[in-house]
Amino acid sequence: MSKDYSKRDILVTNALPYANGPLHIGHLLEHIQSDIWVRYQRFQGNNCTYICGEDAHGTAIMLKAEEEGVSPEKLIEEVRISHEEDFKAFNISHDNYHTTHSDENQFYSETIFSRLKDKGLIEEKEIEQLYDTEKELFLSDRYVQGTCPHCEADKQYGDNCEVCSSTYSAIDLINPVSVLTNTKPELKKSLHLFFKLSSLKEEIKEWLNTSQVPSQALNKLSEWTEGEIKDWDISRDAPYFGFKIPGYNNKYFYVWLDAPIGYLASHKNYLDKLNRSEEFDDYWKPGSSAELYHFIGKDIMYFHALFFPAMLLKSEFRQPDGVFIHGFLTVNGEKMSKSRGTFILAKTYHQVLDPEYLRYYFAAKLGTGVGDIDINLDDFLQRVNSDVVGKFINIGSRTANFINKDFNNKLSSNLHEESIIQDFLDHASLISETYEKREFSKAIREIMVLADKANQYIDRMEPWILSKEEKNKDLVQSVCTTALNLFRLLTIMLNPVVPNLCSRVYSFLNIEEPKWNQMSELLLNHEILTYKPLLTRIEKEQIEQIKQKSKEF
Ligand code: 2FM
Ligand code: ZN
Repeated sequence: MSKDYSKRDILVTNALPYANGPLHIGHLLEHIQSDIWVRYQRFQGNNCTYICGEDAHGTAIMLKAEEEGVSPEKLIEEVRISHEEDFKAFNISHDNYHTTHSDENQFYSETIFSRLKDKGLIEEKEIEQLYDTEKELFLSDRYVQGTCPHCEADKQYGDNCEVCSSTYSAIDLINPVSVLTNTKPELKKSLHLFFKLSSLKEEIKEWLNTSQVPSQALNKLSEWTEGEIKDWDISRDAPYFGFKIPGYNNKYFYVWLDAPIGYLASHKNYLDKLNRSEEFDDYWKPGSSAELYHFIGKDIMYFHALFFPAMLLKSEFRQPDGVFIHGFLTVNGEKMSKSRGTFILAKTYHQVLDPEYLRYYFAAKLGTGVGDIDINLDDFLQRVNSDVVGKFINIGSRTANFINKDFNNKLSSNLHEESIIQDFLDHASLISETYEKREFSKAIREIMVLADKANQYIDRMEPWILSKEEKNKDLVQSVCTTALNLFRLLTIMLNPVVPNLCSRVYSFLNIEEPKWNQMSELLLNHEILTYKPLLTRIEKEQIEQIKQKSKEF
């Protein structure tokens, strides 16, 4: 099939989840955010590819596998299966879910490394690090604790102090102890490879100035680019679970080197499976007209907005057009906590509640800022019940019965009030713009204003009173037909957010899923199906059940 140049080619990625534990609703915030945007793009007719996969390397995964008495390969495979099940349950429409522990990723990691090396951008330096002699392992910052060299607070990790917020090197900690064996680590020298980021300051600034990065994040990133940019240590010593660095003995690529390269790997794997391998260069060569966006959390913006674009630039790949950064998820205003029952796993949630509720609630909260997003569980229940069930679904449930009962399921051939339909259609472009700009909370607000208008229209026309008199028969049919057309328009508008619920509405309306630009094709003289409840309210007990299960896992 020949390529349609009127469509945008868009490639979207999510941060690859670590393959060492289950997904929680914090992960889902990002995946739901990007899935809404991806669905909106596809719904507009654009060519939007959405990829993800497991972040499968590093010390943490190696140690977790050891603790569980399985090979790292087995662990990452089991975790991959459980992650994919959760994403499916939440209707996350990844086109491909791959892993960084793959041939494609090894190939691109080695390619990028050798290109950087050929350009003189890899430097070898001998450094001193803390070494656990019992475990025979160099200790990364999270595996060392000691006394802060600045404020003398005890039990601080190897990179920064939680008490005085100072940052330091692990070897500066007073009385360091290995978290793994509780022994005193030794200082040991080793050769490491550094990517010479310090020489790429202007290129990094140039990318930041010309790319879509939220302004609050830019402020933070500029602090870094205005200061001293250090070279980046991209090697780790054995034992390590990852890819060996070609040409070196027992040296591995640091997990953060090959993790973002996993985006290229997952995309390549996807295209290969479809026998469309030749398209890879269309997306990844410098000057590509395809758009590339990464959705990530604010904790990993350095890797995505500084290191990765610099790596791509110097290894002859294109750079991203934007990095869309979100804040952390809090529950009831606080960090998620197991004892409070607010560390909610994806699985715990979907075993009890319909994922569409959470998709709606997150959409209602999400914008383009990097501020934290809170899910207050009482507000969640109220908001979903009131908006989705009370306003949106209610439009169908209060008008369908008349059409089912009195008109043999048949909609009238004319509308009762065209102006209200036109009003909805007039709002479509504004709602479309807000989706495009990822201002989902604004889109939801606009849609709910329209849902209120639809309900007010039904309140004003009172079909339940009209239907008592035979002379109003035609009027009742055209009023309910108007209302069900409004219901259809709202469904199209909400489709990127709650796709499963919308499919149920389309089935009831007895239509195929329309595209955004088919909004104005009205349903007249059309047979619908018998109305059955499309969504029930969230019950307080269900929230309690989730909290209880979250304390137990
Ligand atoms: O922070 C994390 O959860 C990482 N696993 C994200 C990696 S994103 C990409 F670089 F792979
Ligand atoms: Zn301190």
